[in-house]
Amino acid sequence: MLAEHMEELSTLRARLDAAGQGHVLRHWDELDDAGRARLADQLAALDLSLLQRLAAEYVVRRPDAALPTQIEPVETYPQQPAPGDVTRTAMYRDARARGLALLHEGKVGAFLVAGGQGTRLGYDGPKGEFPVTPIKRHPLFRVFAEQLRAWGRDARRAIPWYIMTSDANDAATRAYFAANAHFGVDPGDVYFFQQGMMPAFGSDGRLLLAGKDSLALSPDGHGGSLRALAKSGALADMRRRGIEHLSYFQVDNPLVHCIDPLFLGLHDLTGSEMSSKMIPKAGPLEKVGNFVRGDGVLQVIEYSDLPESLARQTDAAGALRFNAGSIAIHALRTAFIERLTADGELRLPWHRADKKVPFVDETGRSVEPTAPNAVKLEQFIFDAIPLASNAIVVDTDRAEEFSPVKNAEGVDSPATCLRDQIRRAARWLGEAAVEVPRQPDGEPDAVLEISPLFAPTAEHVRARGVPMTAVQPGGVLFLGPDGPEHADISG
Ligand code: UD1
Repeated sequence: MLAEHMEELSTLRARLDAAGQGHVLRHWDELDDAGRARLADQLAALDLSLLQRLAAEYVVRRPDAALPTQIEPVETYPQQPAPGDVTRTAMYRDARARGLALLHEGKVGAFLVAGGQGTRLGYDGPKGEFPVTPIKRHPLFRVFAEQLRAWGRDARRAIPWYIMTSDANDAATRAYFAANAHFGVDPGDVYFFQQGMMPAFGSDGRLLLAGKDSLALSPDGHGGSLRALAKSGALADMRRRGIEHLSYFQVDNPLVHCIDPLFLGLHDLTGSEMSSKMIPKAGPLEKVGNFVRGDGVLQVIEYSDLPESLARQTDAAGALRFNAGSIAIHALRTAFIERLTADGELRLPWHRADKKVPFVDETGRSVEPTAPNAVKLEQFIFDAIPLASNAIVVDTDRAEEFSPVKNAEGVDSPATCLRDQIRRAARWLGEAAVEVPRQPDGEPDAVLEISPLFAPTAEHVRARGVPMTAVQPGGVLFLGPDGPEHADISG
């Protein structure tokens, strides 16, 4: 080995020893050059003083969930102004116009976080590839791409699309987009970037090795997306393009309105730095974040952290007191992200998860743990809300905007998502005066799919028009870019 590399190694060893992590070089002498290079690269990317602080604060002792002392429900902007509310009616009209203007002026970018691992769904590969639509079995990525194309067409201006991947799925995601001609989006308007990785800790605060030549690493949470936007050059790209707002969404929900002029307009008009959508929760313990006002500050308390006694509280009318569920849809000002990341450190809290992480032990043996042996730390995007000025929450409707694919079976599964897509399509058609036959239980008696290129909203369906008898009992109707297509379900 060259003298300078020896020097580097001894410096690295000394820094690791000082941070109590010297053991990660335990197998160094057994490694070949490639293995040494891999490990040295991983170690060079670590911020050892941060890790030391995190190990003490979050790993060695289990942190108490830092709950605010006073937890109150939040006020939200209703989906529609109450009848007769003249001021709000005017505000909503202006907001919608503002949202459309922002799109037309090229001030909005779409932001998809797709760095997660999809473990619960049991789907190997990027979750955005999951075939989700009822007839064509189009993947999630395509559903989003077609929405962005539809809104870009309306605005006569393409909507740039920022997609966050992670080390685990970056290459596969890019290859998938390339193989599918980016689903018709100009590749120059798609900006992929990778999120950061965090090493897993053993319960003693020492980093775990996945192999003799590698740390056990995992994505640093969607909160890390803010740091990654800055580090990757995506923020600079937005500045160059004049983008002022990001429309943020997650990969698992095909009902999401990737672009919503009213929401974007309310966000902009109120001077909000970060806005969010909420739905009334399906029940007290539904696994969604809860919008609350904690010690006066708007924030999200994750379902796992909200004490059950609070989750079950009801008001005088018997309704859940904390019923504002987060569907992880946000609008963020790019200037806000610049501010949060200006000095390179993103001051969001970390969240601890205890997981089973395979590792190599001190003898070099691979161990498959049968119980949680490791701590993973992640940052969450919604923890930026308390740092935002004028943050707002806007109500929406579950049936219209939320049916994620999270689990292989049961709630939030492919089956429920398919059902909800068909129900929404039936409702949109109904609003356009198309009669949808019903089964005795009220479910649509047809398989329906509306491509976002035909219509990204109910309003667009009405504007385009569909023959009143388009849906036959037991039939299959796909509304493609050019209108009704005779479809079969093998697609
Ligand atoms: C999340 C929210 C929850 C919200 C619900 C709505 C958290 C902790 N909770 O739950 O408040 O009510 O969605 O559906 O987020 N991702 C990354 N990188 C990561 C981790 C995740 O890009 O390091 C992405 C995933 O690809 C996915 C999204 O973030 O698009 C959600 O991640 P997931 O871990 O599935 O969150 P949930 O527990 O479902």
